Amino acid sequence: MNKKVISLIFGMTALLASASPVIAAGGGNLESAGINVRDVAAIQRGAKWFVNYCFSCHAASYMRYNRLAEDLGLDEDLVRKNLVFADVKMGETMDIAMRPGDAEAWLGKTPPDLSLISRSRGNDWLFTYMKTFYQDESGGWNNLVLPNASMPHVMWQLQGIQKPAASTHGEEHGAEQATDQLILAVPGVQTVEEYERTVRDLVTFLDYLSEPAKLKRKNLGIWVMLFLLLFTGVAYALKVEYWRDVH
Ligand code: HEC
Repeated sequence: MNKKVISLIFGMTALLASASPVIAAGGGNLESAGINVRDVAAIQRGAKWFVNYCFSCHAASYMRYNRLAEDLGLDEDLVRKNLVFADVKMGETMDIAMRPGDAEAWLGKTPPDLSLISRSRGNDWLFTYMKTFYQDESGGWNNLVLPNASMPHVMWQLQGIQKPAASTHGEEHGAEQATDQLILAVPGVQTVEEYERTVRDLVTFLDYLSEPAKLKRKNLGIWVMLFLLLFTGVAYALKVEYWRDVH
């Protein structure tokens, strides 16, 4: 292959890579979630965390149970046993039983549907959000990336209880990594690394939830790239063949 062809291939690849969307999330110091959306095992674990810890308040009403089962390669019975508590049909969407008004009266705010949250907030924001709940001076829950959030830290038993680090005072240290401002005052049942994996799994699930077709799209993308590479080779061989007699 000559240099032009090679640089063409490189150019194409770079163009495609740079075209992936970058979500601008608020707040400067977010931790990188580092998820792999093709890790189906992580999505499965995340789905379980979601149903056990989030689903009582947050719906995921764009997702149907049977679609979840199919995408994650799970037996419908398994999904029914592990993920579906109420007596719902597999074709139903993942709505919650709680009426919006009840949640508002109880929490002061209606918990938003999380179907598209990974797109609107970005995965790094979600990752940091779930890691930076802490107990403030009032003894109530607070959060570094969503100050005064009306959501309690629902996974505190897993993570433990964080408190502001003594030497720092919240916003004044904006340039630091968000989690450096907190110390683990009471350990949870998971180690720091285990909890990090829990949150990463959860964010992987939320990312999948926001675009279920991504699993298929990404797999398809590889074949498209391979085809383009192969086709470039064929086209080049043809060109050589045609021009052989001209030279
Ligand atoms: C007890 C009910 C409750 C549970 C359980 C709960 N949340 Fe929430 N969540 C809320 C409420 C209320 C808000 C609104 C917070 C606000 O805006 O102040 C919220 C907000 C959020 C937001 C921010 C939405 C936004 O963009 O402002 C995210 C993300 C979120 N929850 C994720 C989760 C996840 C993940 C879980 C499970 C690990 C979970 N929640 C469990 C009540 C709950």
